[in-house]
Amino acid sequence: MSKSPDTQRPPSQRYGAASMEKIVSLCKRRGFIFQSSEIYGGLNGAWDYGPLGVELKRNLKNYWWRTMVHERDDIVGMDGSILMNRLVWKASGHEDTFSDPMVDCRSCKARLRADQITNKKGERQCPNCGGKDLTEPRAFNLMFKTYVGATEDESSITYLRPETAQAIFVQFKNVLDVARKKLPFGVAQIGKAFRNEINPRNFTFRSREFEQMELEYFCRPEQGMELLEYWKDERLKFYENIGISRENLHVLTVPDEERAFYSKGTYDIEYEFPFGRQELEGVAYRTDYDLTQHQKASGKSLEYFDEETKQKFIPHVVEPSAGVDRTVLALICEAYTEDEAPDEKGKMETRTVLRLHPRMAPIKCAVFPLLKNKEELVAKAKEIVDLLRPHMFVFYDEGGAIGRRYRRQDEIGTPFGVTVDFETLGEKDDRLRDTVTLRERDSMKQERVKISDLPGILVSRIL
Ligand code: GAP
Repeated sequence: MSKSPDTQRPPSQRYGAASMEKIVSLCKRRGFIFQSSEIYGGLNGAWDYGPLGVELKRNLKNYWWRTMVHERDDIVGMDGSILMNRLVWKASGHEDTFSDPMVDCRSCKARLRADQITNKKGERQCPNCGGKDLTEPRAFNLMFKTYVGATEDESSITYLRPETAQAIFVQFKNVLDVARKKLPFGVAQIGKAFRNEINPRNFTFRSREFEQMELEYFCRPEQGMELLEYWKDERLKFYENIGISRENLHVLTVPDEERAFYSKGTYDIEYEFPFGRQELEGVAYRTDYDLTQHQKASGKSLEYFDEETKQKFIPHVVEPSAGVDRTVLALICEAYTEDEAPDEKGKMETRTVLRLHPRMAPIKCAVFPLLKNKEELVAKAKEIVDLLRPHMFVFYDEGGAIGRRYRRQDEIGTPFGVTVDFETLGEKDDRLRDTVTLRERDSMKQERVKISDLPGILVSRIL
């Protein structure tokens, strides 16, 4: 049995300052997340997901899509392009206002967000070098500018999208026409977004390239405030359903002065990261601002016709907007634990366990033959792999002592391990023929189950 998993306290208090270091190291060592372009010294604010990271990310996105789109009648999906007409960004306000005020330090040449400048006795000071020779704040647009086509001039400028939402607004009419939905209804999208953040930091938390999972839920004006509450609660349930405990989530009511001027209410769902409480998702009631802007700028009607009242109006919208990368990071932080467990000789040792929810775990089940040089054990284990593969992602491992193999899977969050031993072959007791041990990661408890029951048992536990 394992002892005292440190899961009771929020990750920000669990392992002290070392914890982010341990998490970053595990991510690299086990193939969750690598620095982008690492062999060339990296690229600040860009990350690559390795073999396990990509699985974790997919499981998260698939579960979001399943619960937001497939399990509901009132939401449809879309997948917009990353490059869009520049006029989209003029109309949305991004070209003029999507910026951070920024200050340059003339001494150390650092470029800093204005809110990071320290103030010592009424004098502005560079937090990097302590220098006082600073420029006045200037607006720095966060969108990545690019050119479409062969000529690099004013007429060919556009931007990499800084959010996925705008594609949904500009396709509102097309989606409405084909989906034939009545208000309230939503359009969901998952995709890349890009922001030239001044200070990318905290591992993947603030990146320059990241993914968003966004829902635009259109409604009548009088439904907006109620739906804001509804979506805040739904989103909290989602995080609990992927294994993030409610105690580590916090809802911030964004104060009037910090909200976008068009929003009538915004919540930030925050998570207790090891580096502090930070935003995972924003849930905002954006009124009819976006559709109105695009209707005005494009000259195309984005109105909704209400069959019952025969009225035409621009719908309002409530937007839950979540970050994929931030949620992946929260899942890893939440799951990372160290406990004490006996090794093969009964001596206690530190065990690193990623207690990921089975739904999120990259590998659902590892299959081990007790010995790799015993042909019948290997053949049986491979049969089990074939039996499970149509239902889930499984991993076959025959290398090293069985205890070591378990530890390797514990560290990457594999919730179940199946071991094929001599009893499986019926060598000791014929009644145990074609049974295996099924080991559960967190409790390390083992049960003896029939091979033919494995798919049913495991599928019910990983859904
Ligand atoms: N459409 C609304 C919108 O984009 P946002 O609060 O700017 O709102 C939504 O972004 C979510 O996208 C954030 O809560 C966060 O999870 C994620 N996000 C934003 N900027 C990010 C960045 N630089 N790196 C990683 N994730 C980011």
